[in-house]
Amino acid sequence: MRRALEPARGEAAHPAPRAATRPRTRRPPAARPRPGTLRRVPAPFLVVQLSDPHIGADWDGEDPVAGLREVVDAVVALPNRPDAVLVSGDLSEHGSADEYATVSETVAAIGAPVHVIAGNHDDRATLRAAFALPGEAAGPIQWAADLGPLRLVGLDTTIPGRDGGALGAESLRWLDAELGRAPDQPTLLAMHHPPVATGVAPWDAIGLPPVDRAALARILDDHAQVRRVVSGHLHQTLTAGIAGRTVLVAPSTYVQGQLNFSAAEIDLAPGWPRGFAIHALVGREIVSYVRTLS
Ligand SMILES: [Fe+2]
Repeated sequence: MRRALEPARGEAAHPAPRAATRPRTRRPPAARPRPGTLRRVPAPFLVVQLSDPHIGADWDGEDPVAGLREVVDAVVALPNRPDAVLVSGDLSEHGSADEYATVSETVAAIGAPVHVIAGNHDDRATLRAAFALPGEAAGPIQWAADLGPLRLVGLDTTIPGRDGGALGAESLRWLDAELGRAPDQPTLLAMHHPPVATGVAPWDAIGLPPVDRAALARILDDHAQVRRVVSGHLHQTLTAGIAGRTVLVAPSTYVQGQLNFSAAEIDLAPGWPRGFAIHALVGREIVSYVRTLS
C-alpha cells in the first residue's frame, strides 16, 4: 500500500511548476522627485567642533583670533545652523580670563549653546569661571549635557602644568557612572588628548599613556551608546579607533601640525588651512564631517 506522501510510479517527486495563470499586476511607478525638487527632510541634530584656538598665542606670527573668526564665519555660513558647539580644549595659550572672554565672544556668533573642555594650555579655574562650569575651582572639568536626541559628555584628560594627558581612577569612575545614567541615548564623548597612539613620537610623548587608553577602552566596552569619541590636541585631522568606536581628532582653528613620522620634535605647519568638524546625528549613529578652509 502506497503511503499518502509517496509519489506514484511514473509520477515525479517534484513536479515541474505550472505556469502562473493569473496576469501579473503592474505596480505603479514610485513617485520620483523631478531634478531639483528633492523631498525636504529635517536636518539632523548637528554639533560643530572647534579645537585648539590658542587665543593669546604667537606661533610664527600667526594670529589666533583671526583664525578663530575665520572658522566661526565658515560655520555661520553653513546652510544648516548647528544645534550645539563643542570647543575641544586649548581655548587659550596662557589661561587668562581675557583670552577666554575672546573665545566666548567670538564663538557666540554661531548662535548655539557652547560646551568646552580643558586642554593642556588651559587653566581649569579660570576656564571654569569664564564658562560657568560646575565643579570645584581647580578640579577636573567634566560634564554631561543632555542635548535632547544626543548626549554630549566632556572628560578631562589634562594634568595641570603638563602637556601630556592622563585618565586617573577618579575620572574613569566618574565616566563609567555618568554613562550608566543614560545607556540608551546616543552619546558623543569629548576629550582633549586623543585616546590613541598616533605613530608620531613627539605627539605620543604628550598623549594619553597606553594603560589609560586601555582603561578607557574597558569602560567603553560596557557602554555601547557611545557612538563617537572626539578630541583635539594634535592640530590635524586623524581617525583611529578605540573599543570598536571611531575616534576623530579635529584640526585646529589656529596652526596645524605637520605630518612627519620621523620628527624628533613637534613639527608645525604655519599657513596650512584651518578647519573644524561637524557631527550629525543620523538615526542613532553619528556621522562626522571635517571642513577645511582654503
Ligand atoms: Fe593645542
